Amino acid sequence: MSQGHADKGAKLRAAVLGWPITQSRSPLIHGAWLAHYGLDGTYEALAVRPEDLAGKLRELQAEGYAGANITVPHKQAVLALCQTLSPAAAQIGAVNTLVFGADGSIHGTNTDAFGFTENLKSLGLSWTGKKALVLGAGGAARAVLNALSQLALGEILVLNRTLAHAEDLAQTFTTPACKITAAPWSECPRGLDGVDLLVNTTSLGMVGQPPLKVSIEGLKSSAVVTDLVYNPLETDLLGRAQAQGNATLDGLGMLLHQARPGFEAWFGVAPEVSQELRAEIIASLEVA
Ligand code: ATR
Repeated sequence: MSQGHADKGAKLRAAVLGWPITQSRSPLIHGAWLAHYGLDGTYEALAVRPEDLAGKLRELQAEGYAGANITVPHKQAVLALCQTLSPAAAQIGAVNTLVFGADGSIHGTNTDAFGFTENLKSLGLSWTGKKALVLGAGGAARAVLNALSQLALGEILVLNRTLAHAEDLAQTFTTPACKITAAPWSECPRGLDGVDLLVNTTSLGMVGQPPLKVSIEGLKSSAVVTDLVYNPLETDLLGRAQAQGNATLDGLGMLLHQARPGFEAWFGVAPEVSQELRAEIIASLEVA
């Protein structure tokens, strides 16, 4: 992928745009990779108000940036500013990575589903025909459903506080091979029946948010539990899952893997998610 590269010899530049931007870990991740691979590049955090987004992107293109990450609250609004979209971005309805073309065009992608899949792959399991339970029906759930449909799961149950949001997702992501059913939050205990993969996509359990109070005692012992929340790294959900013998995956893996395609497109090196990188980000979370 070299679509967004600046001229050879020119400094490679990328940034993350959000409002506010202080919460973003992307500068740390990309900064660590730039240093690790010895690249003469920069990656900045830019606080950009919604009304300034289009103008800021034009400015970055004129300055020779290779592209950008897009975070809250711009992930949907930026769709209209892209000339082309990846299939994942189009289905998820949100963009988190932009690659600027030499012709002035903007290509929008969504790498959250890729990040989720790559994290899940670290367990080396097959998910074909398996059953998943997804908690939540927001933007993160859309990325997870996109990923799960690519992994050929057989059945997915989406539980959400607001049933209409879960129903909307079920309609969008159901395929002939994978039936998606929506149900209210209260269905949780019964919804655990036969589940192979439980995913929390809500912000419940995150630092500063209410706890996730669902009981997971009915899960079979072979089920994998994963939480998209990465602060704290070991959420109450993951702690309870481990205590009852279920395999778990924390949210940091997805965060690190979703950054890979952007870095490769802008800086021309396919970066690795190493234990050192994980340790560096964990240290930053601990002081946050
Ligand atoms: P994100 O982009 O991170 O997914 P979001 O789109 O705001 O964020 O979605 C947040 C998800 O967490 C939603 O599923 C939301 O449920 P609603 O659709 O009912 O709003 C869920 N959520 C947030 N706070 C919650 C709470 N206190 N109890 C239950 N669900 C909650």
